[in-house]
Amino acid sequence: MSAFRPVARRELQAAPGANTSIEAPTYGRELAQAYDAVMAEAAWPSLSRGLARALSRAPVAAAADIGCGSGRVLQWLAARGHSPLFGVDRSAAMLHLSGRRLDRRRVRLMQQDIRALALPQPVELITCTFATLNYLVDDAALARALAAVARNLRPGGLFVADYIPWLDDQAPPSTHHQLVSARGRRSAWRTRLDPQRGLSETRIAFQGGVVERHVQRHRRPAEMKAALAAAGLTPVSAFALGPGGPSPWRMLVARRDAGRRGDVRHG
Ligand SMILES: C[S@@+](CC[C@H](N)C(=O)[O-])C[C@H]1O[C@@H](n2cnc3c(N)ncnc32)[C@H](O)[C@@H]1O
Repeated sequence: MSAFRPVARRELQAAPGANTSIEAPTYGRELAQAYDAVMAEAAWPSLSRGLARALSRAPVAAAADIGCGSGRVLQWLAARGHSPLFGVDRSAAMLHLSGRRLDRRRVRLMQQDIRALALPQPVELITCTFATLNYLVDDAALARALAAVARNLRPGGLFVADYIPWLDDQAPPSTHHQLVSARGRRSAWRTRLDPQRGLSETRIAFQGGVVERHVQRHRRPAEMKAALAAAGLTPVSAFALGPGGPSPWRMLVARRDAGRRGDVRHG
């Protein structure tokens, strides 16, 4: 049984083994498993409804999911008939979970950073879900990733992504604690929100001593729109995703402009 529950500060301080090592890169084995069992599971009903809405009129063709994590979106795209299908993530542990979930004859998994995305061929659809874009903290990192998305999409192709925007920038900084248990392993999560800077930092400490630190940037919808446009991706629609995931949580759909300069040749 996996569950979130609020946790008192004193419980976190007493967590055995906390803060004894830093596992790099992020989404190491412990977090990949907890993420898949708890977060991805809870968010999936809303996320899959959002994908169905975003892609209701999209052709079934070559596609890639970037920041694919444990492979739920790839599994959904495979069932929809997308082929060829590519999954990209920088975490080896996440790719391992994806590989266990998917039919490897139908999905090719690649370990890449999305800022330097290089698919074997251009595709008609690129998806990027569950706040992966929020990991691009600097504006330059977001610009590089979106330019890479545009380079790897065919003209007219779709980019479908979700992100956690920042809406309330007047709120003072705050700290939130959660205890997560998944597959018999417990971890203590401490999230610091800094609304005025649009940043959040989550420190995740596992019982065995592994600690991960995740920093995410929260941009306003207008900033996301401008970043998409600068990369040659024209916003088509945007809508709120439902409960089960972070709140607020938005999905956006953008189309790659036709005839953009700087296209790469795919061999
Ligand atoms: C919150 S998880 C989302 C996983 C999956 N998209 C889902 O919907 O369940 C974020 C994923 O993005 C990956 N990621 C973050 N930054 C990345 C980057 N710059 N390049 C490649 N993968 C990245 C992480 O390794 C992780 O698997």
